[in-house]
Amino acid sequence: MNTIPSRPRLSRRSFVKLLAAAGVTTAGGYLLVEAAPWLDYEAQANDIRRPLARKVPMSAQMRELIRYATLAANGHNTQPWQFVLKDNAIEIHPDYTRRLPVVDPHDRELWISLGCALENLRVAARATGYAAEVTYPDGVDYIHIRLTAATPQNNPLFKAIELRQNTRSDYDGHAVKGADLDDVQALHLEPGVTLRYVLNSPELETVLAYVHQGNLRQYADQAFVAELIDWLRFNQKDALASLDGLFSRCSGHPEVPGWLGRLFVAGTKPQQQADVDARKLRSSAGVVVIASESDDKATWVRTGQVYERLALKMTSLNIKSAFLNQPLEVAELRSQFQSALSLGASWPQLLIRFGYAEAMPRSLRRPVEAVIMPPEME
Ligand SMILES: Cc1cc2nc3c(=O)[nH]c(=O)nc-3n(C[C@H](O)[C@H](O)[C@H](O)COP(=O)(O)O)c2cc1C
Repeated sequence: MNTIPSRPRLSRRSFVKLLAAAGVTTAGGYLLVEAAPWLDYEAQANDIRRPLARKVPMSAQMRELIRYATLAANGHNTQPWQFVLKDNAIEIHPDYTRRLPVVDPHDRELWISLGCALENLRVAARATGYAAEVTYPDGVDYIHIRLTAATPQNNPLFKAIELRQNTRSDYDGHAVKGADLDDVQALHLEPGVTLRYVLNSPELETVLAYVHQGNLRQYADQAFVAELIDWLRFNQKDALASLDGLFSRCSGHPEVPGWLGRLFVAGTKPQQQADVDARKLRSSAGVVVIASESDDKATWVRTGQVYERLALKMTSLNIKSAFLNQPLEVAELRSQFQSALSLGASWPQLLIRFGYAEAMPRSLRRPVEAVIMPPEME
């Protein structure tokens, strides 16, 4: 499991023990722990990913499945979900207080994020001895998952849940091993969802041109930058305070005081961002576009499921991946991209690069208690 580079690999407990051994009093020890927040960051990142408890009573088991669901990818790490516990069922509801009105005005990516959580939940349920029967949002505004007892299924995707991450660094430029790529390309899909791989130039350069245009448009838009800044966490103290958002070190940036980070991001030149992403894309083995026949809630959920399944599959083969959704988040570019990649009537939903790289620092999540809807609000 990766840790934050160049930081001590020491748990809070070992740190306190070390202080005790050195004769530091408990009170002094606590002061030092407070002054060393990275220990808490690592503890939090580990704790939310602790191994899933099995053979516990049904209600505790359901909470564990929800914890695994929350480890899913989600836009800006807003964690836009609320879970409702029923007898033998879990519902995933959107949390519209966490929507991203600028980058995602129709809640398309929000529902994709719920689909990612659904996929983790389904895989974890299957591994612990439950089959999940899913009812997609159609008329109702939530996903319903009925759980019935089934033989536990040993699945490498389950082990990948705690390891999966959106790895935003430069990759090593190597092609993915042939057999592994075949394995990835054999992934089981959802009805109406397709994958389109782009592995070679000149088509990769076409994709790059659209990512470039997307960056230029988004970073020239003050509302986009302001919304992004709202979800950036420039240091561990801020990341720990909210347990959500985009922590700077997860994107390879140093920690800085909030005021400095905000100033820096607000001053980012669109061209600068475009150049960084061009380099990242060129360092990747390829990209894959997830496309769908329709563009509605149920399809967005299925798209999220396919994305998460793909990311887990790649993780199980030590292949890293990250999003470059910029051209699909600008309406005009999205339709141009659709024609440029000859997707016909299929809607491009997500654009993902993949390849080999070291793991990056891990993102945080809010605890299960914070995402279970209180009964009086159901
Ligand atoms: C629908 C969707 C859109 C996303 N768009 C982007 C993106 O454009 N750029 C990016 O770097 N990450 C993107 N992400 C990744 C999230 O930021 C990431 O999942 C979240 O910060 C949690 O981090 P983790 O996936 O490493 O656990 C997206 C995720 C989802 C589900």
